[in-house]
Amino acid sequence: MTDRYCVFGHPVGHSRSPAIHAAFAEQTGEAIDYTAIEAPLDDFAGAWRDFVAAGGRGANVTVPFKEDAYRLCDALSPRARRAGAVNTLILADDGGTRGDTTDGLGLVGDLRRHGVALAGARVLVLGAGGAVRGVLEPLLEAGPARLQIANRTAAKARALAADFADLGDVSGGGFDAVEGPFDLVINGTSASLGGELPPLPDALFAPGATAYDMMYGAEPTVFLRWAEACGARGIDGLGMLVGQAAESFYLWRGKRPDVAPVLEALRQAL
Ligand code: ATR
Repeated sequence: MTDRYCVFGHPVGHSRSPAIHAAFAEQTGEAIDYTAIEAPLDDFAGAWRDFVAAGGRGANVTVPFKEDAYRLCDALSPRARRAGAVNTLILADDGGTRGDTTDGLGLVGDLRRHGVALAGARVLVLGAGGAVRGVLEPLLEAGPARLQIANRTAAKARALAADFADLGDVSGGGFDAVEGPFDLVINGTSASLGGELPPLPDALFAPGATAYDMMYGAEPTVFLRWAEACGARGIDGLGMLVGQAAESFYLWRGKRPDVAPVLEALRQAL
């Protein structure tokens, strides 16, 4: 039987993961079957159990199940433990479930592909929710000079900064506490979904700075439009999406696909 994988979400019909993994499978010659499954909101663990019983070997997990996935795992990678969330489930040989998170690797990999230097950089991260918590460890391991977290609810940013303070120079606060200039500003809030922009000073960006939005769409997000008008180079989160998928694929199959051609095809299809 072909090994089965899936993405769990709710809703999940819009997910690009099946197309991405089908492309990876073709590229690497791995025979896998990958589908999208809408799990019930009140029984994620049951959905995973049923999937395994039907030949499932692993899964991606998206909104709103990343914390549910974290809770059902028998073993967690250190970065998933720290993120408090799991985006990749792996069926272990002993039948147990391992959890990992590849979002941060996807982000850092995409920044590298774009030639954005992280070592020694001054970095601002907007937002302090699950999406930001999930990427902080790989970001800090890349060695920024400092990393400031700014959030509408300042206390959440301060608490998040304290949780990661052992990994580098991390501070947190409200948007009014933002002190630039920055070489890299990453938008991890869901604000641009609603077309809103956090209240930020115009003089945020150092010369040659990059603005990265973890969101993506057919059109540039409101955050990227604003950042580009301020003189920064804008990058959206499509490469992060494909990058995290590639890292999940590697965890399951031991082969790391080439992100670039899949990203290009996906971009054309947006
Ligand atoms: P996710 O998993 O996407 O991170 P989340 O945990 O609900 O979702 O976090 C959403 C983030 O977007 C939070 O940082 C939130 O700010 P608060 O902590 O103050 O709620 C931020 N956010 C959402 N809408 C926003 C808006 N209109 N302006 C600024 N920040 C916003």
